Amino acid sequence: MLNVSWRSETKREMKISRLSLIGLLVAGSLHAQPLDPQMNAFVNELMSRMTLGEKIGQLNLLSVGFDVTGPLLSQDADAKVRQGLVGGVFNTYTPVAVRKLQALAVKESRLGIPLLFGYDVIHGYKTIFPIPLGLASTWNLDSIEQSARIAAAEASADGLNWTFSPMVDIARDPRWGRIAEGAGEDPYLGTQIAGAMVHGYQGANLSQSNALMACVKHFALYGAVEAGRDYNTVDMSRRQMFEYYLPPYRAAVEAGAGSVMSSFNEVDAVPATANRWLLTDLLRSQWGFQGFVVTDYTAIMEMSEHGMGDLRTDAELALKAGVDMDMVSELFLKHLPELSAHGDITEAMINQSCRRILEAKYKLGLFADPYRGCTEERARMEILTPENRQAARKFAEQSFVLLKNDAQILPLKKSGTIALVGPLADDQSDLLGPWHAAGDARFVVSVRTGISNVAGSAATVRFAKGANLVDDPALRKLLKKFGSEISVDPRTPQDLFAEAVDAAQKSDVVVAVLGESSGMSGEAASRSDIGLPECQEELLRALVATGKPVVLVLMNGRPLTLNWESEHCGAILETWFGGTEAGNAVADALFGDYNPSGKLTATFPRNVGQIPIYYNHKNTGRPYKGDPGAKYVSRYLDVPNDPLFAFGYGLSYTTFAYGEVKLSKTTLTGNETLLASVTVTNAGQRAGEETVQLYLSQPVASVTRSVEDLRGFQKVFLQPGETKEVTFRITPDDLKFYNGKLEYDWEPGEFIVRIGGSSTQLKSATVHWNKTTHAP
Ligand code: BGC
Repeated sequence: MLNVSWRSETKREMKISRLSLIGLLVAGSLHAQPLDPQMNAFVNELMSRMTLGEKIGQLNLLSVGFDVTGPLLSQDADAKVRQGLVGGVFNTYTPVAVRKLQALAVKESRLGIPLLFGYDVIHGYKTIFPIPLGLASTWNLDSIEQSARIAAAEASADGLNWTFSPMVDIARDPRWGRIAEGAGEDPYLGTQIAGAMVHGYQGANLSQSNALMACVKHFALYGAVEAGRDYNTVDMSRRQMFEYYLPPYRAAVEAGAGSVMSSFNEVDAVPATANRWLLTDLLRSQWGFQGFVVTDYTAIMEMSEHGMGDLRTDAELALKAGVDMDMVSELFLKHLPELSAHGDITEAMINQSCRRILEAKYKLGLFADPYRGCTEERARMEILTPENRQAARKFAEQSFVLLKNDAQILPLKKSGTIALVGPLADDQSDLLGPWHAAGDARFVVSVRTGISNVAGSAATVRFAKGANLVDDPALRKLLKKFGSEISVDPRTPQDLFAEAVDAAQKSDVVVAVLGESSGMSGEAASRSDIGLPECQEELLRALVATGKPVVLVLMNGRPLTLNWESEHCGAILETWFGGTEAGNAVADALFGDYNPSGKLTATFPRNVGQIPIYYNHKNTGRPYKGDPGAKYVSRYLDVPNDPLFAFGYGLSYTTFAYGEVKLSKTTLTGNETLLASVTVTNAGQRAGEETVQLYLSQPVASVTRSVEDLRGFQKVFLQPGETKEVTFRITPDDLKFYNGKLEYDWEPGEFIVRIGGSSTQLKSATVHWNKTTHAP
């Protein structure tokens, strides 16, 4: 049944694709690029020789190899590859493993079509960088792009050609563990980062052997799962989608991402993987996406749990919606032949998806060299190099956010005695974070080692673990089962505390390195309580009770609730999971060899009851205006409305003073450009870097707007006493939003231009912007 000839179909399709090409060019779509005629001819010729079964095989993606990233494992991979029933695999890497499997495809399958080799290269390959939430906190697009470039160079040297990244899901709920994998809560910053990462992975040209094809995920809205519970339902208005959640996916598509991953959740009551509006109307017709769509892990299979019907129906719905490749379910392989034979789907649909996958392979240069020059020698030369480690150290430093620094406890002097305490103080594996590709804990620099590298023998360090990461046996068991290495010190909590308190008492300062185990954030790691684990909280209280100054160094994959900590610790440095060089970078920051400059990209709430809490909220009809006795206003009885640490917040060892906002004009018309400037002065004693942020507000519009929206940022490095003027160019494009008809446009009126060092510390000025001076 599978050996049907599709020659006539291919001819018809060739005609269709020429016609649709003309259509695209005529329509002048943003992304309409003339097809590469050579590629077109190559794919046409190849497809003319493929059986229906072989074409369906290209739509099949298996998980084979070293890692397990979902609930099912693919079976009989070798045999299927030989039969031409596999388009790609993921979780296989290293030149030896990749070459072996690729050789099966190339030499032993009938047509010798090479495989795609995918992997979750999320924040570095073997040289691990900070988790994406940390990288985002750098607000440094060059560093972010470079991190993706290095990741691509390392991963491709190890045989990979495709990464399931960037993850650009906007997240406003820190209970959701996957907030660790994205850029945080803001669509503007999210779009900038999405573009930078795609460029970093894909380089100048996908065919270069050190490029990886990017896969933007999880399309769409996965970050808005209800109650922060992973895989949960998503339900939101179209305006909310367009205004806040969709822009980063679109930016990744516009940056040329070769593939898109459909998400697990539903969108408008239809699972994303079956959602034709999402995957075809929006993604292809409106945004002009030309690559291929792959599902998330077994997402087609999961559609039956969503209530979409039996598995055969699910396969049909997914293909018709616009899915090209089925990750692990193998339901395309199983059901498309029969669906096609019964006329439930057309051959053209299969051809179209097959073509997209073959085109991706062509663009990656796989038909020219299926191994893309991966050799053990190249892997040895290009992976985990000193330069890459140096970059990792720099990015980690840039990602740290100084949340508190009373009485200038930090930076520490490289002298005296430091009590280094906490379950993460001498840890290596957790520093890699929850999704660390081929990262190897043995190469990770712990904080303990970092301090000794940076301070040498000038400072005495008294180390005490003080507590285990978690004491709750049920949680510990679960984390272990899910693959986290939780090293457990068998001593009693009292003995561990006593040793730590003793070290504190004999020291000048305490550095407590506390936080989550890496398995407490990331996929399938939602938490309803986002505080420090209880045993660590108790340890911290005991340390504070000694009266010694306490510096809290945090490692975690999400915003935490830190009320008690922020009141009682002298300094708090948020270091996320900083990757391979985390320990050196932490030491650089602690001793002032690096002056922290990171800024939060996700709000830190005071308690879980405030969630969702995000800076770009609406005003409501009854806003709270600061009167503590006010009733009938939008507020809580038991907690302030504002967060503990706001979006954009982050301190430095110096202070920055902002001048007033100066505008080039206060009334503008149409397409004019507004220049908005401030002076920023380094008012402290140390050189430092500031991220100057621009927010815009439009108090009156045809739909309610956020109280403010980030629209720009610039980084400035200032010597002590130095002043620089920072200027933003604002055009009507920056004023645009989605109106009630979902048109992206701007409306005339009053705009408040706000500039400053955090979303809540801003200087402002007002302009009036008219559409025209007179009617056209
Ligand atoms: C995750 C994706 C990931 C895929 C492959 C899924 O469970 O949601 O982000 O890319 O597995 O590992």
